[in-house]
Amino acid sequence: MYICLCNGVSDKAIRQAVRQFHPQSFQQLRKFVPVGNQCGKCIRAAREIMQEELIQIPEFKETA
Ligand code: FES
Repeated sequence: MYICLCNGVSDKAIRQAVRQFHPQSFQQLRKFVPVGNQCGKCIRAAREIMQEELIQIPEFKETA
């Protein structure tokens, strides 16, 4: 499913970037996937997906 229509970024692309790069913030995520840099409507959904995916990563589970 597309999350960012402006840039054609899917939830899969966001999840993959989170798993691969473990961004500490949404700003960092944006370095890896071009999300939320135009109309900004996708920011909330993209942030939620990032959080969802981060808690699946074992090293983040203890702090989440
Ligand atoms: S939908 Fe992502 S910036 Fe517009």
